[in-house]
Amino acid sequence: MKLTPEATATRAGSSRKNLRHRDALPDLSRFLTAEQHRIHLVGVAGSGMSGLAGLLIELGHSVSGSDKVTTTETERLQRLGLRFHEQHLAEHADAAELIVFSSAIKEDNPILLTARNCGKPLFRRAEAVAAIMRSKRGIVIAGMHGKTTTSAMAAHVLREGGLHPSHYVGAEIPILGTNAFWNQRGEYFVAEGDESDGTLRFFHPEHALILNIEEEHLDFYSDLAAIEKVFAQLIDQTSGTVLYNVDDPNTARLCGKRKRAISYGFSEHADYRGSDVELRNFGSSFLVSRRGEKLGEAILNVPGEHNVHNALGVIALASELSIPFDKIAASLRKFEHARRRFEIKYASDRFLLVDDYAHHPTEIRATLRTAKSIGRRRLVTMFQPHRFSRTKALCREFGTAFNDADRVVITDVYPASEPPIPGITGRSIVDEIVQRSHRGVTYQPHLQSVHRDVGNMLEAGDLILSLGAGNIHEQLEILAADLVIAERLKAIVGEEGDVRLYEPLSNHTTLRVGGPAQFWVEPRTERAFAELIRFCRNEHLPLFVIGRGSNLLVRDGGIRGVVVHPHGGDFEKIEVDGCEITAGAGVKLRQVAYAARAANLGGLEWMEGIPGTVGGGLRMNAGAMGAQTFEKVIRIRYLDPEGNSHVKNRGELEVFYRRFPLLEKNFAVSATFCGEPAERAQIDSRLRESQEKRRTTQPVAKSAGCIFKNPATIPAGKLVDELGLKNSRVGNARVSRVHGNFIVNDGNATSSEVLELIDDIKSVARKKRGIELETEVEIVGEPE
Ligand code: EPU
Repeated sequence: MKLTPEATATRAGSSRKNLRHRDALPDLSRFLTAEQHRIHLVGVAGSGMSGLAGLLIELGHSVSGSDKVTTTETERLQRLGLRFHEQHLAEHADAAELIVFSSAIKEDNPILLTARNCGKPLFRRAEAVAAIMRSKRGIVIAGMHGKTTTSAMAAHVLREGGLHPSHYVGAEIPILGTNAFWNQRGEYFVAEGDESDGTLRFFHPEHALILNIEEEHLDFYSDLAAIEKVFAQLIDQTSGTVLYNVDDPNTARLCGKRKRAISYGFSEHADYRGSDVELRNFGSSFLVSRRGEKLGEAILNVPGEHNVHNALGVIALASELSIPFDKIAASLRKFEHARRRFEIKYASDRFLLVDDYAHHPTEIRATLRTAKSIGRRRLVTMFQPHRFSRTKALCREFGTAFNDADRVVITDVYPASEPPIPGITGRSIVDEIVQRSHRGVTYQPHLQSVHRDVGNMLEAGDLILSLGAGNIHEQLEILAADLVIAERLKAIVGEEGDVRLYEPLSNHTTLRVGGPAQFWVEPRTERAFAELIRFCRNEHLPLFVIGRGSNLLVRDGGIRGVVVHPHGGDFEKIEVDGCEITAGAGVKLRQVAYAARAANLGGLEWMEGIPGTVGGGLRMNAGAMGAQTFEKVIRIRYLDPEGNSHVKNRGELEVFYRRFPLLEKNFAVSATFCGEPAERAQIDSRLRESQEKRRTTQPVAKSAGCIFKNPATIPAGKLVDELGLKNSRVGNARVSRVHGNFIVNDGNATSSEVLELIDDIKSVARKKRGIELETEVEIVGEPE
């Protein structure tokens, strides 16, 4: 058969109609399986389309394809001969004799428009697959949930049973090698039938396996009756046996009346019956009988009761194809999951990360039940709703689907080429769940931030699940990659230390702004700190040390890499020896002042007024009341970039106003200060003086202390005051009314607001007074 563009053009639309008509399917079947042609696939990167491309290449066709995205599948197909275009241009399909398009492709696609204009034959994906199937003995696996797993399981069992089947399933299946495979040798062709767009009606298989039927895809179907109509047609068009799940009422009602129908399930009436099911960690075992006769025990290494059901369907099918039960059981035991079907992304005693494709409330319930049965401490779930139409239609059902989860983070809807529906977002589902009084649910409208929200709530013992048919799994993958590093950091700091992912730095800065730290680490010992430094160096991870965060402005994008907070343990020690006070880097300067008081040592009272730690005070050479840190330092102990420790005396150190260069690349561990013996009353009076100065001249609101260094000619606060900028604001960041060198956070200010205000002040000072203000606060991190 030859289908030239000219030939079809002269026959106008009629040939297209003919070809698309059921009666013409044998012709299309011949065209696709017994001849070799030039075929173009529009939307070739989709999971179903890429499988079809693989089949057509194996059948010897010259295949081209277009898509707006490149995937590892399109790259693999290119190596096999696909001519791939990352754009839909009509000219790329000029030479094609036939065009196949995905359901996701819109009517105005230029390739479709041109092909229609010149009368080129156009087919939907399922029509092409159904036509290919016609050249073999077709087996269609259909149903709302579990198709991919079951068709993969069926193809695997038939293959192990020596039947050399060809297959076509909707996802990458590691155990099968690829999502589609053409086997010249075998008679059978196992295909997953897609009910979502009505194309199930194209199939004329020898056997059909029906898993379940319920309301779904209400973007396409008006109601359940419309869905059942398509299934009824498939059943009518099945020439041999229909195998069906008797435990699903809709399926049983539709299939039960058919003559050549075989049932499976847990019901006593099932032809193939499963019983004595035992679910364990990642699998199950159960007994199988056929019409009362015991066949034996089956063991599955994929979890969940729903998979026991799926396996019973496959057992029924394979048994009807005369594969002995022992062989079936042995292959089922070897079966591994399809991608994104309870796929384990990370597993340790402390955490288990699993990705699943579940996106319908029934699937979510089943997956959560399986996850719960694994027996981890908590179940933390991230969910991306799929399609606005489904979110709208099943919103109420989603409201109860997450009952088994302890925590749920829901992001916005993955549109899957649908236009938005006003008022329908991920929040619609969150509201439904909250109404049913589930307290652990939050909404995160930005998909890119979901891994952060979930990562920051983790506790040892958690099972973390990503659910959805869109791209939420990418968030779990980012989390898994970071968790690998976080767990290595945890091993370094040990039981007593602490490691958290994506810790919001607004919780650790006195100004209360700033995005997350990718890895927040609290070592308790100098040894652990040294090891952290070496680890970061070897792994090329940036390392930043934060004390009290009192002189720090972290940008809204947070800090990438490891943020070390030396806190507790070695870093909290204060020792007084004569006039010397040695304090760890994590000790607050005001604690040093009070330790000195307790030992009747004076000269350090001004430290009372500084909100920072010893480490921060050293790094900044912080000061107050006309004094500065290094005036009182005798020696310091620090770690170098290789993690080696050093002790240096004051005389060996180069120090400037508000700057101590040594700690720009090295890390403070402790400092020894010298006090002077003094009367307690005198110390108390100086402490009061400092407190009074603070109370009367500085704001109590959230701030980062003084923002600018004092220029030589005028204190920065006085300058800002004179410029009339007090109380000026950007958003919720405001110049303090009390002191011009303080910016205060009126609540929920962002870092970018503070930065904008700083820039405003600088430019006014420059313009009006010719003074170049320099920030004293350290500005770090990445913009959002
Ligand atoms: N002034 C004004 N208007 C203002 C603020 C200040 O006229 O809005 C005047 C004051 O009246 C005073 C002069 O400016 O005559 C200096 O002000 P202040 O005494 O408050 O000291 P400062 O130089 O602004 C320094 C430190 C503070 C420390 C105080 C108290 C710097 C940049 N700041 O402030 O340190 O608490 O002395 O001893 O050196 C910090 O470093 O984060 C910090 C708050």
